Amino acid sequence: MDTERIGIEDWTELQRNLELTIPVYDRINRFATLGQDKRWREMVRSRLPAEGHILEVGCGPGTFAEMIPSRELTCLDPIPAMLSVAEKRVNSKRERPAIFIEGTAEEMPFEDESFESVCSLFSFRDWYDKRAGLGEVLRVLKPGAKMVIVDPAKMNRIHGFFGWLWMRVWVGAYARIICGVKDHPWKWLTKTYVTFGTTRDYVRMMEEVGFVKVHAKVVFPGMATIWEGSKPEEGKGCCSNC
Ligand SMILES: C[S@@+](CC[C@H](N)C(=O)[O-])C[C@H]1O[C@@H](n2cnc3c(N)ncnc32)[C@H](O)[C@@H]1O
Repeated sequence: MDTERIGIEDWTELQRNLELTIPVYDRINRFATLGQDKRWREMVRSRLPAEGHILEVGCGPGTFAEMIPSRELTCLDPIPAMLSVAEKRVNSKRERPAIFIEGTAEEMPFEDESFESVCSLFSFRDWYDKRAGLGEVLRVLKPGAKMVIVDPAKMNRIHGFFGWLWMRVWVGAYARIICGVKDHPWKWLTKTYVTFGTTRDYVRMMEEVGFVKVHAKVVFPGMATIWEGSKPEEGKGCCSNC
């Protein structure tokens, strides 16, 4: 595992553990973020364009998807059990149902230029090949359309150490109590937290992949950074040299 990739064996084990989080996901997330996760999700919502089809990559149990009931929405996730929980939860609150599709960020089952925006909340750090996933996002976005990501990046290594302590000791103890087992799935979330890079690592990666107007805001150091970037408009390259 490094800042760009997770090996296939580790990723498979991570996914197995993510599936185990389903019954307690929202509860532990709220605790881990001191109740701030809802505010961060709202910040993502406010950055999405007001119209058009949204793709959420790594929708999990539908925590964000249920916050946008009136938008045209497709949700992608590799775990069928996540999709099934999300579909019931989200579509019970919608007049026009959202679409739920099994797949990964790295190999999306969509036509080129299908979406007006793409978002990913607390999932990007689980992608097994982040650069390939961002390339796919660029492919399925319409020209000029935007991607918004939120995930817990570090600012530097020292900061990463305190984040690790927080996840291991504070969140780990709570997860142990709630899950009732010592070997709880949040151990895997701590691993992906530790290996996830800095805010700047992913600004650079988005630019290298071809996004323009890339910027990041550290919303809560070590817990939430929001990255935004757009696909170049038709006929415009990624920089003045293209
Ligand atoms: C921690 S949950 C996030 C759930 C939700 N987006 C939220 O706002 O809380 C992470 C999700 O990312 C998904 N995921 C992991 N690897 C992925 C990949 N390569 N492509 C797309 N989704 C992935 C997992 O299956 C999981 O459901």
